[in-house]
Amino acid sequence: MKIRVLGSAAGGGFPQWNCNCPNCSGLRSGTLHGRARTQSSIVVGDGACWALVNASPDILAQLQANPDLQPGRGTRDSAICAIVLVDGQVDHTTGLYMLREAVRPWPIWCTDSTFADLTRGNPVFGVLGYFCGVDRHRIGLDDAGFTIDTLPGVKWRALPVASKPAPYSPNRDAPVAGDNLALVIEDASSGKTAVYAPGLSAIDDAVWQAMQSAACVMVDGTFWTDDEMVDLGISRKRARDIGHLPQSGAGGMLEWLDRLPSGTRRILIHINNTNPILDESSAQSADLKRRRVEVAWDGMEIVL
Ligand code: MLT
Ligand code: MN
Ligand code: ZN
Repeated sequence: MKIRVLGSAAGGGFPQWNCNCPNCSGLRSGTLHGRARTQSSIVVGDGACWALVNASPDILAQLQANPDLQPGRGTRDSAICAIVLVDGQVDHTTGLYMLREAVRPWPIWCTDSTFADLTRGNPVFGVLGYFCGVDRHRIGLDDAGFTIDTLPGVKWRALPVASKPAPYSPNRDAPVAGDNLALVIEDASSGKTAVYAPGLSAIDDAVWQAMQSAACVMVDGTFWTDDEMVDLGISRKRARDIGHLPQSGAGGMLEWLDRLPSGTRRILIHINNTNPILDESSAQSADLKRRRVEVAWDGMEIVL
């Protein structure tokens, strides 16, 4: 089983079109040691067939950057055989509009609350009904897990996580289980797992257990500090207010990652453009290296 990162940035990407924070302006002017990143998405597959996990606003550029996802076996063709959504947020669903020319209804796996968001608050599923259509598969929150028939070598399990649904979600101020997911993605033959959780504001027992038994964790890398955007004058909201556990500080992501078994591969993903870890010369980047924590980049591939 392979996991490839199509987009490693949070909503807005890096650099963000209207942002002049030190990172975005530094990257634009060539003074920052780092690389551009597109918005949040991975693919999971066996090399021939891939499940797209989250459909980023940057999906068309991501497909162009990954030509093996367009094998060209027919006049209209794609190696993406299914779509799995971890929530109904803009950075994870806008790409669905770009995929409307599919020649059959898209098999899409999502929870009931994400389905509600995508038929009401952000009715993209209704819009797709006028184009390729949606063949919706329900992700339940029991322990049963699910498989995608076209990708039998991969087993999936969804864990509800504390985070935030999108602002247009009917559940924004009263989140329910299933608004945001961590996915436990297992190679059926080796039994090895990866935990993918791009939005995570707290780590409960179930998520922690899954992280401890995983070969690789790819977890919320949005913000370094809780008040990162407040300090830059960009927003009045703190990381935790919008559903993201910051890396630094007491109870932060790095404390959790430090406690994982030594062999676990630790990767931060869904990085906001304000995060100092995007500057590869920063003290924060050096701190991550010491802790053997990696920062996902577009094109990064993990083989389990
Ligand atoms: C988030 O992860 O908090 C959201 O995707 C933010 C956004 O809408 O860009
Ligand atoms: Mn996001
Ligand atoms: Zn910025």
